[in-house]
Parts: sequence; C-alpha cells; structure tokens
Amino acid sequence: MHTENKDRTIPGVGASAHVVNCFRAKYPNISLDRFAHLWISKPAEKLAKKYLKEVGETEDLAHCLRHHFFLERLQEFSIGARNRVFINIGAGFTNYPHLISTRIPCCEIDKPNITKVKQQRLGELQSANKLPHREITFIPTKDLDNPSERRKLFNSLSQWMDSRQSFVLMEGVAYWISQQSTDSLFKHLQQIQTAGSLLAINAFKPSEANKAMFHRLRKFSENVYGIKNFSPNTINERFHEHLSSYELIESANYINLSKQIDASKELDNQESVLEEDCYLLRKLMR
Ligand SMILES: C[S@@+](CC[C@H](N)C(=O)[O-])C[C@H]1O[C@@H](n2cnc3c(N)ncnc32)[C@H](O)[C@@H]1O
Repeated sequence: MHTENKDRTIPGVGASAHVVNCFRAKYPNISLDRFAHLWISKPAEKLAKKYLKEVGETEDLAHCLRHHFFLERLQEFSIGARNRVFINIGAGFTNYPHLISTRIPCCEIDKPNITKVKQQRLGELQSANKLPHREITFIPTKDLDNPSERRKLFNSLSQWMDSRQSFVLMEGVAYWISQQSTDSLFKHLQQIQTAGSLLAINAFKPSEANKAMFHRLRKFSENVYGIKNFSPNTINERFHEHLSSYELIESANYINLSKQIDASKELDNQESVLEEDCYLLRKLMR
C-alpha cells in the first residue's frame, strides 16, 4: 500500500484526475468528451504539459482513445433495457452522465477531496447551463486500498443499486491500487452485480512494466504527485479467466483503437506508447 505525501503543495493522486481531463480536452473529437474543457484550470494544464514532457508525448491521445471506447460501450448499455444504472469507481472529472443520450441513474465514487470539488463545480456549471442537469449520487471513499473503507463503500453501493443491472467502470484506477485490493473489489462486485451487468476496466499488462515510459510514469507519480513508496499495479491479461461468474466479451488496446478511431493519429511504435488494455466483461448468473 502506498502513502500520499501530506504536504499540501504536492498534489497527491487526485491530481492525476485533473491531468487526464486535460488530455481528453485536447482531442475532443477523439475522446468524444465535449465537456472536458469546462474542468480545466491553469495549474492542471501546467501539470498535464509537464506530464507529456516527462512521461511521453503519446499519453494524451491514449487517454482520449480509452474514453472513446468506454463511452461507446456505456452508450449502448444505457439505451438498452429499463432500470439500468451506471457506477464509476475513481470517476475523477469525467462527464459520462452528461455525454450519454439516455438518462440513467449514475453513481460516482472517488476520494472525498475529488467528490467535494466536483459536486460544487457541477452545481455551478449546471446553474450556468454549461452542463445539462443530471442526477448523480456521489459516494466518497477515503481509500480503496483500505478493507474497512471498501466494506463501507460496498454496503452503500449495494443499497443504492438495489438489484438493478449495472455498468461498472474502473477507468485509470487499477494502476493506483494494490493487486490484493483489486481482487477484493472484484469479489465485492461479484456479489452485487446482477446477471447481464457489465464491468469495464483498463489496466497495464505486467510486460508494460519493462518499458522506459512505465518507469518514467512511476517516477512522475512519486516525484510530482507525491506518492511515496509507490509500486504501481499491473493486471495479467488473463485475469478474467480466474474471475468466476464473468465472461470477457471485448478487449482493446490503444494501438488497435488508434487504427479504428482516427487513422491520422495512429499509434504504431510500441516503445513510445504505454499500452493499457481495456476490458469489457459480462456478469453471468451468481
Ligand atoms: C487517473 S485518475 C482517473 C480518473 C477518471 N476515471 C478518468 O479516467 O479520468 C485516478 C482516479 O482514481 C482515484 N483513486 C486513486 N487511488 C485511489 C484510492 N486508493 N482510493 C480512492 N480513489 C482513488 C483518484 O482520486 C483519481 O480520481
């Protein structure tokens, strides 16, 4: 388990949500996030530029591609049957509830400092008609790496879900939490997701950890986000085979997504891309 630096001048893991949002705003035609620009601040922009320089220039595009992939899958899910819900774990400053065409109940989970800022700014943006109004339930959680916090979270979540079919997204989160916590999150989700529900997640394969870019990202996480003793997590690409009661229905990675989505911005050099794989799993019977 890592520890965050308590020095308030160092941004902490929540800063990663600001950085990723700046990336989505850079290529809205690829990310399909036409609202990302609303959340940008000057310090976030500066941090995002520093990230691209120190970690790698392809990272902005890569983050747009994964958002595009998840948004399309969520859009399909939301226009399906009635009584479906969307849950975003580690939601950051994403705008999924405002981007899908069908209003479904949405729940966003993140650290209290993120949910607080987001709720407040959301109110301002909706009042100013810059964002359409959406009902979002926020569940702050102090630390997904903490077993008792996870138990509290899933008690609240299972009450909120109330046996409805769900689309659970964990985008850009697996990297930050331990393998043990990830396994535990999957077990909790197994308990509360009903048959036909979806689980969408992206993660680095263990082989990505050998890339120079991965080392640069770890250093950036330590030195700039201020995460002490950080040991980033990777997930074996066959993890779903050990995940009982889910079937893998789709997977994609940044290199193949770039070919499909915008050939003019194709990512082709593996060494210059930190390849995270995106997975979509369907819940079978319990
Ligand atoms: C890279 S950001 C991704 C945000 C958003 N999903 C996106 O793709 O834009 C990682 C998010 O995970 C949250 N996070 C990371 N570690 C966490 C932990 N241990 N407990 C709760 N949230 C955590 C951060 O606060 C942050 O919002």
